[in-house]
Amino acid sequence: MTPPRPPNRPTRRTVLRSLSAGTLAALAGCGANAPSEADSESGSEPPSATTGASTADLRPDETVELPANTGTNTVAGDTSWDTWRYDGQIPGPELRVREGDVFRARVSNQLPESTTIHWHGVPVRNAMDGVPEVTQQPISTGETFEYSFRAEPAGTYFYHSHVGLQLDRGLAGPLIIEEADPHVEYDRDITLVLDDFLPGPPQMPDASGGGGSGGMGSGSGGMGGGMMGDTRPPYEGLLINGRLPSDPPSFSVEDGERIRMRFINASSATTFHVALAGHEMQVSHADGRPVEPVGVDSFVFGAGERYDAIVEANSPGAWEVRAAALDGDEPPAKAVLRYGNSDDAPTPVESTGQQLRYSDLRALSPVDGIDSGPDRTFDLTLSAGGGRSYRWTIDGQTYPDADPLRISAGDHVRVRMTNHSPVVHPMHLHGHFFQVGDAVKDTVLVPGHMGEVTFDFIADNPGQWLFHCHNLYHLHAGMARAFVYE
Ligand code: C2O
Ligand code: CU
Repeated sequence: MTPPRPPNRPTRRTVLRSLSAGTLAALAGCGANAPSEADSESGSEPPSATTGASTADLRPDETVELPANTGTNTVAGDTSWDTWRYDGQIPGPELRVREGDVFRARVSNQLPESTTIHWHGVPVRNAMDGVPEVTQQPISTGETFEYSFRAEPAGTYFYHSHVGLQLDRGLAGPLIIEEADPHVEYDRDITLVLDDFLPGPPQMPDASGGGGSGGMGSGSGGMGGGMMGDTRPPYEGLLINGRLPSDPPSFSVEDGERIRMRFINASSATTFHVALAGHEMQVSHADGRPVEPVGVDSFVFGAGERYDAIVEANSPGAWEVRAAALDGDEPPAKAVLRYGNSDDAPTPVESTGQQLRYSDLRALSPVDGIDSGPDRTFDLTLSAGGGRSYRWTIDGQTYPDADPLRISAGDHVRVRMTNHSPVVHPMHLHGHFFQVGDAVKDTVLVPGHMGEVTFDFIADNPGQWLFHCHNLYHLHAGMARAFVYE
């Protein structure tokens, strides 16, 4: 069980242990629960809902320069494409920060358009949330904006542009907040960023469902059809860490290691089914939050969701990671786990086996304060807009022409969603984690054809918080609202 360790490699191995009440309270304090100590510590922060003019009073423990610029990136041996990206990379550089540290990113905009960055999943102060016209003025071309926030809670997150359709050009990258005290044992971690590959500038589809967009109409993913189906952008492939399956990224592992695989769905319009050949995945975190480890062969996740899984490397050879689109017919994205110097062709995924269900997820630190009835309940219908333009609605309204969802500080808020459309919607709430079943998440899939999902959260982070479908095209066709409170 304890493999010999090369002398210089830092170990991340910790022991699985029972959580004391104190640990639970500490975890809860940095979750979506009561205002945490960190908040009072930094009590001199500027009020939220300003444009983030000054964050100088938060002394950063680490600062990164994060230029957003245009250029050419390679997606496979000889295929390259004109992109917009962070610091020259697709996906953007992996940002790593220790839990509890104050993180600062200086974003210089070298793009031909205004931009912002959203720190997806991190419950930052509202002014740092990166939603244009809601929490800040967009960063104009040639300008620099400093984001800073306390990095908590630990978890697997990502950062991305929140302006227009910029996300689908490649403006996304992983953000890892490293746990001081993980509940699972592992030697090191690797990050897999999944994406859909659009070679040209993104465009909103027209209303006809397929015309003019590569002919990928409603039926392409078996998601249902007819007038209410969806139009998929003309993707030319699926990526893991910016590479097509013809030239997949390879991770070398050693026999006996335990690897923490961090999976991020940074796509704009793809629900992925992810499987790993030859190994069980012990899912340990959902959207960054720790869960009781659950062993599966595969999982499905939507745009904006993340899963971490511990994999015990006990089966030498080369093994494929496969990520297939549920809503598209592009060849699945691939990666390879390769033991030592094995030059075997990777063994493919044969079947997707036991698939993770939301009901398998048991959060170690559930959202506090939701045991009694909610103070506010919102029943929200998700549907296609109909009519002559491409529209997606929440309760018949298209954001930004939509009523704010007004709540009060401290409220226990319940949201019940019913999906009247035939396509799945990955619904994401900014600034808060929510409880959904026994899981704690920030993004949840609402299945098509009258799928229903209910979640609860505590209004503990005042401001204006976007709540929207993380399918980028649905978001920009109106499928969003803002929760508002002071
Ligand atoms: Cu990744 Cu508004 O979200
Ligand atoms: Cu949607």
